[in-house]
Parts: sequence; C-alpha cells; structure tokens
Amino acid sequence: MSNILIKNGTVVLADGCAACDLYLKDGKIVRMAKAVQEKADRVIDATGLYVFPGLIDMHVHLREPGFEYKEDIASGSAAAVRGGFTQICCMPNTQPVCDNAAVVGYIVARAKEVGLCKVRPIGAITKGSQGEQLAEIGKMKDAGAVAISDDGKPVVSARIMRLAMEYASDFGMICLSHCEDKDLVDGGVVNEGYNSTLAGLKGIPRAAEEIMIAREILLAETLNKRVHICHVSTKGGVQLIREAKARGVRVTAETCPHYFTLIDDVIMSYDANTKVNPPIREREDVEAIKLGLQDGTLDCIVTDHAPHHRDEKEVEYNLAAFGISGIETSFSLSYTNLVKTGVLTLEQLAERMSANPASILGLGGGALREGAVADIMIADLGEEYSIDSKQFVSKGKNTPFDGMRVYGKVKYTIVDGDIKYEG
Ligand code: DOR
Ligand code: ZN
Ligand code: ZN
Repeated sequence: MSNILIKNGTVVLADGCAACDLYLKDGKIVRMAKAVQEKADRVIDATGLYVFPGLIDMHVHLREPGFEYKEDIASGSAAAVRGGFTQICCMPNTQPVCDNAAVVGYIVARAKEVGLCKVRPIGAITKGSQGEQLAEIGKMKDAGAVAISDDGKPVVSARIMRLAMEYASDFGMICLSHCEDKDLVDGGVVNEGYNSTLAGLKGIPRAAEEIMIAREILLAETLNKRVHICHVSTKGGVQLIREAKARGVRVTAETCPHYFTLIDDVIMSYDANTKVNPPIREREDVEAIKLGLQDGTLDCIVTDHAPHHRDEKEVEYNLAAFGISGIETSFSLSYTNLVKTGVLTLEQLAERMSANPASILGLGGGALREGAVADIMIADLGEEYSIDSKQFVSKGKNTPFDGMRVYGKVKYTIVDGDIKYEG
C-alpha cells in the first residue's frame, strides 16, 4: 500500500467546498489541510479538479452467479470504478438467487479477489424471491449482507412484507422495496400516457408503482420500522414519500438518472434501450423527481445498473428485457442535469450519491475528513464529452444515453487509499 498526496484540488465537504490537500496513508485520510508537505510515493496534481467522497451505489445488478454473460463481479466492479464508485450494493436476483449465506459469502469473496471496489451484497427477502417464505436473514447478515430486497419483483403479500420489516429491523437491516403491482402492470412495457397510445405499446399506470409505495409507507408507519423505496419514478410517488416523512414515518427513497433526465417521448424510437422498470415517465414526473431530490424527499441517487446482453435488447420492444447499464454514466448525468441546472449544489450531490446511501445502510465512507477511510473520487467538472457505450467496460452496452453530451468526467477512483481507476 502506497502513500498518496492529492494536491491543489477543491474538496467537496458536507458544508461546502474548500481548497485543501489530502494525504492518504494505510488506507486512511491522515491529513487534510492547506499545503500539506508530506513525502508521498505518488502525487496527484488535482489543480482544477474536484475531490469527492467515493461514490456509493446502493442499487446495482452484477448478475453473478448465474448470468455472467450479462455482467460479472469483475466487469461490474471495473465499470463501477470507471464511474467513480468505491462501494456498490448488488441485488440478489441472480441464479441461484442470493437468498442464503453461501451465495452472500461467495459474492463477498469473489469481490475481494477482484479487488476493485467494495461490493456489499443485498440478500433476498424471500426464498428464491418467490414471495412465500422469508429467507435466512440473520445468517445472510452474518455472511456480509447489508440489506434485504426481492428487487426485480415486488413482495406481493403485505403480510410477508410486514414480517420482513420486523425481521430486518431485529437484525439491524432495512428492506429495500421494488414497488410494483404486477396485476395492474398487466404486461405493460412503457409509461401509460399519450406516448404509449401513439407508439401502440401497452402502458404501465403510475398507480402500479404508487399503490405499493403507499402500502410500504403504511406498514412502516404501523410497525414504526424503517423501509426504503427503490427507483421512484412518479410525481405521486414523490408526494406520498414527502407526506409520510412529514408525519415522521421512517421511510427513505432513491431515484435514478434516467428518471430525471428522460421523458417518455424517447420510446417513439422503439429502441429497447429506453425500456426499464419502472418506465421512463412524463415531464411533470421529471420535474417532481428533481424537486424531490432538492428538498430531500428522495435521499439517494442510485443507478439500478441493469446490464443485459444485446440479444435481449435488440429485439421487438415488447420482448426486450427491462434495464439500463447505468453505472458509467451516473455521475456525469447527475452533475449535468442537477448541479449545472441549479437543482442541487455540489455538496448535495455528494450527499445523495455517497453520504446518504452510507448512512441508510450503515456502511463506512461517505465523507472526507481526517481519520476517514480513503475512498475518494476525483472529477474534472469542466470537461465535456459524449457518452459512448462502446467505451463501457461493463458487459452491458444497453444505454439510452449514447451520444449525449455531458459534463463531469471521473479522473481517479481511490479505494482504501489505492488508485483503482485512472481516466
Ligand atoms: O429495469 C429493471 N431491471 N428493473 C428491475 O426492477 C430489475 C432490473 C433487472 O434486474 O434487469
Ligand atoms: Zn427494481
Ligand atoms: Zn434493480
């Protein structure tokens, strides 16, 4: 492990930006001050660059075990550090489902072997994510799981979800809920509205998402337990969470770059790279998502990185898989669409992409200070570039953002004081 001195950068702190140097040693930030003079094995000249706490993505799909042709822990970790992430939490919808200590342990061990970013597995709520019997939550926790979720599927039974919230809380964990009433979705593939009619594609009503957000809020409120709402995409969903928070419900929530960047006219291309679950919504939803991020109703920006093979995307819209490969574009899309437009400050962006996920899941990291773990991302905010999926290191090239001009390029990703990506 080498010593690193990061000189002349602008450091993004919780309460503002400051010009200071960072000296990293033994995996920690040991000095953070102006004009640090320590001798280091490596000096990074960060003149003109911004130094962020390492980004944390609490919602990704790494596909291993079972679907390594879409992504694996090695390729997903490489994509993560290219995107500025030092820590990622992977969803359990693998094959086999990550519903037991053995699979959790495998992911932890394999990620260590890969040695790029920190990978924190999320265990399933129910066995096989079948929605019937609770998985072995305590054993998964002991093996390294940081939360539970049946993401990819809703937990249909409110009784099971209630038990899950109670058990998760007993083990100091939280349930992450994929909110979707499948009955109401009824085979829909895009947002239900003007554009779905125009395109002739079956729509998914907003209520299919909001009904379950409301259910989770009511359960959490009744039980006085925590719950976290995954990938919020609708105006009504934001409002439900805002009102619940105002009356003291212990609910937190996330959204993704595609929900604040795109509106559903993109489906008119019939390009399956715009197919994601929940679907891209309309302008008023996009505005509401931005306001939700601004006022803190939405705590986190996650990617829901969902890589698929091209054979699963380059097919008829109705047959294509849901999901976007998002981990290499999240920071630039968020910076460009939220900070450059004045929706969030830089400090708020760092909070939504690092400090808040860390605190919701009880992970280390999330802040830059002396004594903290040296998980760091350095970006050039002035650099404009075109998103190019051919350059993705993820196996999943499925993005609706190909060719889009964005600002904010990740230059270095440092994990435990080691440079894991250099752009
Ligand atoms: O678009 C999505 N893709 N949404 C999900 O909920 C699951 C994910 C996947 O696993 O592909
Ligand atoms: Zn989901
Ligand atoms: Zn997901």
